[in-house]
Amino acid sequence: MWRAAAKRLVDGALAGSRAAHAIQSNPLSARSKKIVGVFYKAGEHADKNPNFVGCVEGALGIRNWLESQGHHYIVTDDKEGPNSELEKHIEDMHILITTPFHPAYVTAERIKKAKNLELLLTAGIGSDHIDLPAAAAAGLTVAEVTGSNTVSVAEDELLRILILVRNFLPGYQQVVQGEWNVAGIAHRAYDLEGKTVGTVGAGRIGRLLLQRLKPFNCNLLYHDRLKIDPELEKEIGAKFEEDLDAMLPKCDVVVINTPLTDKTRGMFNKERIAKMKKGVIVVNNARGAIMDTQAVADACSSGHIAGYGGDVWYPQPAPKDHPWRYMPNHAMTPHISGTTIDAQLRYAEGVKDMLDRYFKGEDFPVQNYIVKEGQLASQYQ
Ligand SMILES: NC(=O)c1ccc[n+]([C@@H]2O[C@H](COP(=O)([O-])OP(=O)(O)OC[C@H]3O[C@@H](n4cnc5c(N)ncnc54)[C@H](O)[C@@H]3O)[C@@H](O)[C@H]2O)c1
Repeated sequence: MWRAAAKRLVDGALAGSRAAHAIQSNPLSARSKKIVGVFYKAGEHADKNPNFVGCVEGALGIRNWLESQGHHYIVTDDKEGPNSELEKHIEDMHILITTPFHPAYVTAERIKKAKNLELLLTAGIGSDHIDLPAAAAAGLTVAEVTGSNTVSVAEDELLRILILVRNFLPGYQQVVQGEWNVAGIAHRAYDLEGKTVGTVGAGRIGRLLLQRLKPFNCNLLYHDRLKIDPELEKEIGAKFEEDLDAMLPKCDVVVINTPLTDKTRGMFNKERIAKMKKGVIVVNNARGAIMDTQAVADACSSGHIAGYGGDVWYPQPAPKDHPWRYMPNHAMTPHISGTTIDAQLRYAEGVKDMLDRYFKGEDFPVQNYIVKEGQLASQYQ
């Protein structure tokens, strides 16, 4: 009976909510999973690109595939508060797919409530919106699509560095506002060549950024828990700085590329920002909470930070009164760098691959695990 129902689903005889209803009301569908996806809504933009799969409407392009196997797939952008759509499904969902671009904050309280939950998948990179110790304690698996948007973020960081170093945005604003004032831009526009750029974190994104920066003839520095393989270090021409506080005063540009962990949360507070060169450019596409929000806004106002750019905030979506919206010389956008169409296709494929392996009882690629069998990945410990 279940098989017959599943076949009808494959054949498309049942679709969308009808299919879901058939599965829910079928007493023999014990193997079917309730899967919830929380993504940003695309609205009027949904139909503008057939590859726009990262939104609610695109649903990672896996709806037909999941439903054809008898699973129940609910997708929403409504993630906050006790009356949200997400909250309605927490108690009986088996798998939750979230994305850093519109993070569903998976608190210890939500994990406690989620009695059927087995698996948390992050469509993208960075699972700090999940209470990872609580997930580990509850025996849940947390995995992300490691590497899926490395190039997307590294390119975006390069873009923001150039925008800020060249003082591009005031020039653009002048044009839009019908003005023309070369001096207003030129007095603080520089070449990138010859400047010292330091990345805090030289994992996948940090290393690729260093490689992309090499042809610009900068002095490249990096700080990380781990030293890069000597061959690659030599090829990139970047120098390891074991002591972050010793690296910062040398840098004209500082880029943040670590995950948000207990060790990096609030890493850039007032004292640490004071150690950076006056007039430094800071780019942070890693996570907003690595910075002390007010300390960044104050340093931009005083001119200690000459330009701050990035796409990550805390919380997200950023409230209308978030101080970074109003600080001078910023190049901030909504969380966008890792969700280019190319990245969406890669992380959608990665999520599908992990679901497929999960249904078959197979392991995921080892680098994807953030929490496995009660253990957090090493950089989160
Ligand atoms: N804005 C976006 O769209 C976007 C997209 C992807 C990733 N990200 C963020 O970027 C982060 C990095 O991504 P990645 O793919 O390069 O990850 P990665 O795991 O490859 O690299 C992280 C690096 O940070 C280092 N690190 C960790 N803790 C550290 C600490 N306390 N001090 C110094 N170094 C430390 C690690 O050793 C590692 O080399 C992600 O965790 C995520 O938060 C943002």
